[in-house]
This record gives sequence, C-alpha cells and structure tokens, in this order.
Amino acid sequence: MTKPVWPRKFPGLDSHKIKSLPPALLGWFAAHARDLPWRRTRDPYAIWVSEIMLQQTQVKTVIPYWHRWLRELPDIAALAAAPPERIHKLWEGLGYYTRVRNLQKAAQVIVAEHGGVFPSRHEDILALPGIGPYTAGAVGSIAFNQPVPILDGNVIRVLTRLFGIAGNPKDKATNGQLWELAGQLVRAAQVLPGAKDGGRLAKFSGLNGLSATSPRPSPPFANGGEGEDAAGENCSHLNQSLMELGALICTPRNAQCLVCPVRKFCVACREQRVEELPNLGKRVAATVRYFTAFVVRRQGKLLVRQRPAGVVNAHLWEFPNVETTGDEAETVHAARELLGVEPEQLAPLRTVKHAITRYRITLTAYTVTVKRAPAKVDGVWKTPAELTELAFTAAHKKLASAAAKSILSDR
Ligand code: ADE
Repeated sequence: MTKPVWPRKFPGLDSHKIKSLPPALLGWFAAHARDLPWRRTRDPYAIWVSEIMLQQTQVKTVIPYWHRWLRELPDIAALAAAPPERIHKLWEGLGYYTRVRNLQKAAQVIVAEHGGVFPSRHEDILALPGIGPYTAGAVGSIAFNQPVPILDGNVIRVLTRLFGIAGNPKDKATNGQLWELAGQLVRAAQVLPGAKDGGRLAKFSGLNGLSATSPRPSPPFANGGEGEDAAGENCSHLNQSLMELGALICTPRNAQCLVCPVRKFCVACREQRVEELPNLGKRVAATVRYFTAFVVRRQGKLLVRQRPAGVVNAHLWEFPNVETTGDEAETVHAARELLGVEPEQLAPLRTVKHAITRYRITLTAYTVTVKRAPAKVDGVWKTPAELTELAFTAAHKKLASAAAKSILSDR
C-alpha cells in the first residue's frame, strides 16, 4: 500500500515535525548561511530593495546593484524624490522594470502616508505598490522579526519535498496549504528559546563599509543590528533558512540530500520522490521571436528612441527595431519601412539572443548609414558618450556598446 500523502492531518497536526524542524533549520542557517550584504542590516528599506531586486534575478547579479543603489539612494526620501531617469539607470540590466517604478511609487506612499518611515504593520506593508504576500512576509520577518510567513520558489520546493505535497503549488488549495505550513514553521520558531539572545549577535551596524567580499565575521553575522537592539531573530532566520536551503541544498536538480540538515524529516527523500517534487505541471513551450534593429549613424551620432509607457520595458531606451519572421531577406524592406529612408549601407553589427518570460528572442542589429535623416522614426540623435547616460534594455545596451566600438574603430 502506498503511503498517504498530504493532506494527512491538515492543517498542521503533524505538530512534532513542525516543532522539530525550526531548531534544525536555525542551527544549519547559523553555520552555513551565505554572508550576503543585505543580511548585515535590519534597515527595512535596504531589505525591501534587496527583496525586490532578488525577484527574478540571481544573488550574484544583485549584489553590485544593491550596493550601488544604497550608495546613491540611501533612504526612502531619496528614492521618493529621484528623477525617473535616475532610477531606471540604476536598475538598467536587472530587467522587469515595473519593479523599479513600483519601488518608487511605494517610497512616495511611505513619505505621504507614513512620514517617510517604512511601516511595520503587515497590512500597511502589504498595501504598498509592488508588494505582495511574499515581499511583505520577507520584510516583516527579516527587518522586524515578525512571525509572518514567506513562500517563493525556493520555499515551495523545500516544503513540498519535506511534507511530500504532490499537488501543484499554483492550485489554490495546495498554495493555501503551503502558506499555512510556512506560517506554522515561523510561529514555531518564534517561541523557541534563544529568540532574544542578543549576546549571540555579531556587532554589525549594517552598511558600515562591509561588502559581500569582506572577510566573513564569525557567525552569526546576519541581520543583527547593534547588540541589545537586536531583540530576537528567530523569525527572520527561520524564513531565510528556508530560502537558503532551497538555494544551496534542496535545489531543483541534484539536490544535496546527504548533507541536508532536515533530511530525517523529509518525505520526498524517504520515498525517493525528490526529483518529482514540486509538481509544477506542464511547462508552457517557449515562443521563438525575431527582431531586427537598426543602428542609424549620421554625423557621428546614433538614433535612439524611448519606449512608451504601458509596454514591456516602458521608458527604457532602444535602437529603432521591428519584429520580423527571422528571414534576412526582409532586412532592407524592414529598414525602408521603419525609417522611411533608403539605406545607403547596411552592415551586420551584432546578434543578441535573450529570453524574457516565455519568449526566446533573437535580436539582429545592422548599422545603417543614411544621407538624410530618416523621415519616420521619432527618436533623438545622441553621441556614443551621451548614450551611456541613458537606461537601455539589456539587449540594446549590448548593441550600444558594439555601436560605440565600431564608431571608435572607424575614426
Ligand atoms: N532570495 C529572495 N530573498 C533572498 C534573500 N533575502 N537572500 C537570499 N536569496 C534570496
């Protein structure tokens, strides 16, 4: 007979397991957590920025962006008042630019409604633009040590495996079970002894010149704040331990079960179902798309345009481009149509392949020389030096570098 899977005694009546997991997770986190820069602060603003950047973006990519952001916009007031071009430039290359616009909108709400101080009430955090249950839980637990749960891809993987949950985590019932479990775990951590053990904490005041590459202080280094003010961190660390376990041990493929601190509790490990879980259903097949871009040169300047509001990558800059079938024979026609001018010379510049959501995009760029200014394109002429001031989409930034190089080599 196969063993029954969750829900066995839902909700959360496996109270022994719920109580046993947090000490094991906290012990492991104290010993093995990565020394990430946002783990050295309790500033809710800095933690919020890290969480927004970390959505859809890898830790190693985020680190330099996060340092630069906090250097340039050190607090909520600075973000609220920053010109849109500045925040886009600071986000340039991270993608999913709605995130940065919402970050600023939320900062403006905090200034208008909370006196510029990041709110600590869960409902107030959740009401901010761009903040959903995951981010509200992450900031509430990490910055304020509140017993609020988090559930992201890493945590879903850990929990579905630990508890042998076979339902699709996107389905409402399964999703509800996972949030409930995450809540039970963080609440179980809250009441553990050691929650107010300020003496264990390293004396780091946050962003005092330490970087991710600084020598690692003796653990725990994380989110300690200054000595006595660091009243409790179990909720913060429990949630971060789930993320960290998902990132380092309980990975999508080749999970390191042999060194997992909670292996003895894991249903998937016991039943050899680690590779089966989580059950994410059928993946939507990627759609292939082709775009052709034109780097139009005239008198040492290049033609660029800004994407309008309301479209993907809104407000970012790009070279004039058009979607094609991928057939190169269309190129001259596309140039003529897009620019309203007969191209004098058309030379391949660079091809950039990239993926965004479910699209696999091939962007092929040509340099175009023209005698008279194109009639059709609404754009502006910029020197290569001026281009570096603008925020480009990641793919077009590569074209901008290639174009600048080719102009320099022509001189
Ligand atoms: N992914 C999402 N939030 C994270 C965090 N605070 N640290 C590391 N990885 C994360």
